Amino acid sequence: MPGVSSARTQVAIVGAGPAGLMLSHLLGAAGIESIVIDKRTREAIQTTVRAGILEADTVRLLSQTGASSRVLSDGQRHDGIELRFAGTGHRIDFMALTGRSVWLYPQHEVLRDLIAARLADGQELRFETEAVRVEDDGAVARVLATDADGEPLTITADFVVGADGSRSVARRAVTGPAGEGYFREYPFAWFGILCEAPASAPELIYSNSPEGFALISQRSATVQRMYLQCDPDLDPQSWSEEQIWEALEARVAPHPLIRGPIFQRDVLRFRSYVASSLSSGRVALVGDCAHTVPPTGAKGMNLAIADVVVLARALRALMRKRDRSLIESYEPDVLERVWKAQHFSWWMTQMLHLTPEASEFDRRRQLGELQSVVSSEAGRRYLAEAYTGWPLDLESLL
Ligand code: PHB
Repeated sequence: MPGVSSARTQVAIVGAGPAGLMLSHLLGAAGIESIVIDKRTREAIQTTVRAGILEADTVRLLSQTGASSRVLSDGQRHDGIELRFAGTGHRIDFMALTGRSVWLYPQHEVLRDLIAARLADGQELRFETEAVRVEDDGAVARVLATDADGEPLTITADFVVGADGSRSVARRAVTGPAGEGYFREYPFAWFGILCEAPASAPELIYSNSPEGFALISQRSATVQRMYLQCDPDLDPQSWSEEQIWEALEARVAPHPLIRGPIFQRDVLRFRSYVASSLSSGRVALVGDCAHTVPPTGAKGMNLAIADVVVLARALRALMRKRDRSLIESYEPDVLERVWKAQHFSWWMTQMLHLTPEASEFDRRRQLGELQSVVSSEAGRRYLAEAYTGWPLDLESLL
């Protein structure tokens, strides 16, 4: 029957991305009920191509909490990356420098695993349900939404978590209507492709070149993901396959690339953002809704998971013992990592990309910076520590 429907839960989560689903999973393991809503269909969530690199502790959390067994069987461990500049590759050996590695396991596979685990636990996931507004009257919090049939739905909860990405609706309940925060825009974007081909290199290649940046990444033995720096307004359909391959090859030369049919293209805009406030009353923000990083440091999904580890612990104390102290300290507890990741993502971005206004001085200085990093063990170790991820305190969650 049409009309306003309602639901009651302990924690209402807006957004079924990695942060929202992982939070629901960790709460469920502690006996705390949640409802997750997302405006997209399950199919869209599970098939949209996103990031691919998981830090070691993200993998540990996914595998040891039963969220994903496939990450260890289907993911690939990477013990280093190659930094290329001035026509030469330099390996950053993560294992030797930090004893840690990362895993290549695409975000949509993480989402597939998390959705299956949530449904197997009998948890409520409502797809095609769009949040309109989040309210907090002091006694309870509410998500006002529109359900899959276009009917209004109100979810009343003890706590609401905004996990709805960079175009968040929930954010306003914490930051105010202007969605205030700290921003940085970049004058370039990435042109990303997926192609059917074997891998062109055993590890990811991050390449600085006079033509601009390129990243040679992977998806599987037969599918590769590659990116090249482009103008943010570029129409990805305007380039021929030959043009794309020539541009990629010029940027990693003389390293050869194995070409194959390109079956997907997209343009990713770059932005750095941290919300002015991450929690208020009965509402908290996690993941891209709280902060966005440019993709050059491979930090986005890992940072979202790190927020959730801290918030899950805080919500457990709140729901079980009515103890708000960890909720009060959620923002300072996560901000140190957030700003370290902001710095690392900005640093990798500015070191590897060519800005449109770069002078010859800027270009030579950039090569000096790259040379300083690869020729110093301290430089390589900083990169390796940041890329493999600062350790997470998982003990009370496993
Ligand atoms: C990806 O494979 O999509 C990817 C890998 C590393 C990055 C960014 C994206 O830094």
